[in-house]
Amino acid sequence: MKPKKRTHYCGALRSEHAEQDVVLKGWVETRRDHGNLIFLDIRDREGLVQVVVNPNEADMSTGKEVRNEFVVSLSGQVQLRPEGLINKKMPTGKVEVQAHQFEILSRAETPPFQASDENVSENLRLKYRYLDLRSSRLQKNLQVRHQTAQLVRRYLDDEGFLEIETPILYKSTPEGARDYLVPSRVHPGSFYALPQSPQTLKQLLMVSGYDKYFQIARCFRDEDLRADRQPEFSQIDIEMSFVDTEDIIELNEGLLRKIWKDVRGKEIKEIPHMTYDEAMQTYGCDRPDLRFEMKLIDLNSFFEGCGFKVFEDVIARSGAIKGIVAPGVAAYSRGQMDKLTKMAQSAGAKGLVWIKKKDGKFQSTVSKFFTDEQFEKLFEHCGGKEGDAVFIVADDFLVTASTLSTLRLHFGKELSLIDQTRDAFVWVKDFPLFDYDPEQKRWVACHHPFTSPKDEDASILLEEKTEDYGKVKAKAYDLVCNGYEIAGGSIRIHNQSVQKSMFKALGLSDEEVEQKFGFFVEALSYGTPPHGGVAWGMDRLAMILCDTEAIREVIAFPKTTKASCMMSEAPSGVGQEQLLELGVRLAPSVENKN
Ligand code: AMO
Ligand code: AMP
Repeated sequence: MKPKKRTHYCGALRSEHAEQDVVLKGWVETRRDHGNLIFLDIRDREGLVQVVVNPNEADMSTGKEVRNEFVVSLSGQVQLRPEGLINKKMPTGKVEVQAHQFEILSRAETPPFQASDENVSENLRLKYRYLDLRSSRLQKNLQVRHQTAQLVRRYLDDEGFLEIETPILYKSTPEGARDYLVPSRVHPGSFYALPQSPQTLKQLLMVSGYDKYFQIARCFRDEDLRADRQPEFSQIDIEMSFVDTEDIIELNEGLLRKIWKDVRGKEIKEIPHMTYDEAMQTYGCDRPDLRFEMKLIDLNSFFEGCGFKVFEDVIARSGAIKGIVAPGVAAYSRGQMDKLTKMAQSAGAKGLVWIKKKDGKFQSTVSKFFTDEQFEKLFEHCGGKEGDAVFIVADDFLVTASTLSTLRLHFGKELSLIDQTRDAFVWVKDFPLFDYDPEQKRWVACHHPFTSPKDEDASILLEEKTEDYGKVKAKAYDLVCNGYEIAGGSIRIHNQSVQKSMFKALGLSDEEVEQKFGFFVEALSYGTPPHGGVAWGMDRLAMILCDTEAIREVIAFPKTTKASCMMSEAPSGVGQEQLLELGVRLAPSVENKN
């Protein structure tokens, strides 16, 4: 007999399907054998449904043999469950399927864990990723990601964008990380670089006249990994010609609103704009989490002439003294306060001053240096109340800012200050064009080397006023949601001489520019429209939409923070023959490890 075709997904059955005959295919999630009747939960990618099998009936004797994860096919009738037997936890809980015919399609060994078991170590789950992907958790996440990707394509298509693919085997596209290199067999000694983003390629498409481009592009970056970073990840990559910052923000806000409405079921209110300087001064961070307040308070003028040497020295060298008020923290023990000091020190600060107000009295690490009246004034200045603690860091601006940002985020979680029910967006604009890298003793691009300076600052670049490079602002913008940078972009340099000055400012010699970007700089001379764009971190976006803080939860086959795949054990050694063919020899220090 020809096997019957599936009519429904298990997880899609609802009370409206009652009395219908259905054919289901799926995996056995659980089996409860009551002798005359066997209850099976059958799973497919849409979810679970309860199936009742009577193994004594013809065509269903194999019902006795099934075990977890066997793949089965069945036909039967959907029936409403009696009121008392409704399972409110299951979307299909109002129905069950009374099987008429039942067949085992494939048997399974006992799996190392049950897909539904939440207490399995992540290492084991990553090794057997294909089994973990059977869990409702990952099924839901991948569905949300799919839905988002399709919506992006529809939205951008409606807005007149062309989806164009760009190569993976390419040349270095600097975004601040190391490149992944691929040796060429045909050109021994030469390497492709995997793109860190399609940045130069999408700009070249603008030179070619494809004025609205997009792609869901795979990017590769060899950098230190974190919970929200993967060595390969996806961007919703967008570029447009004849636009300014506001046009790009408008288009992307439209997309954002559509995603939030259709995928998350939420309307987004007006999105604030903030300059980079404002974000750094107020939150100590260029991607502030605006779901809670706890702003950084400027204390330089408050402590002017205070006599405490640490503060006086910082004021004298134009550093920054800033503080935050943590509500209710006066009750913390000495040990808890010491932990916070250690946290501040790990974040780069030399120390942490704290002042508690408890039962009307002050306790502090600096009580030797200040009177209670001064503390009272400080609390007034900062808006601190009885039971609160003020934390102060004094250092170079960036150290003070980033340390207090770390503490702020810690308190946000620890004291449950974050309103988890809302998503807080902000556009951060006017980034610096350059950051100074003290290790390399040179300027590096804050965004990337193709970002345009603001018009009023372009002369600093063209006239090579190196002492003012730190003041140059860029036409760059980031979209931040709940403290994550979900998208970033800029208006680009479309003038060849500005681009050359930019490379020069970054310390590239003429030969290096020619070798790395010669083709690109040349292209700028053949009629380049003004243009700009943006790239969304598709994975970070999916993380927020799936309410998870781990990027691995929204990627089908992710890598660990050591950039390896636990399932396939990639990266792995290769044979001598293959290396020879590629003209590659391993260094003696690594040869022994393989
Ligand atoms: P940028 O480097 O800011 O810009 O990247 C854009 C967005 O990509 C996401 N992202 C990552 N996601 C996961 N893992 C990573 N390792 C990772 N690195 C970045 C972030 C980020 O906002 N070409 C420019 C864009 C442009 O100017 O148009 C670029 O790549 O969410
Ligand atoms: P000291 O006089 O070195 O014992 O420091 C007194 C207090 O100031 C201690 O609580 C230190 O942690 C703190 N402290 C020292 N340096 C700094 C700094 N740069 N910023 C904030 N607090 C500091």
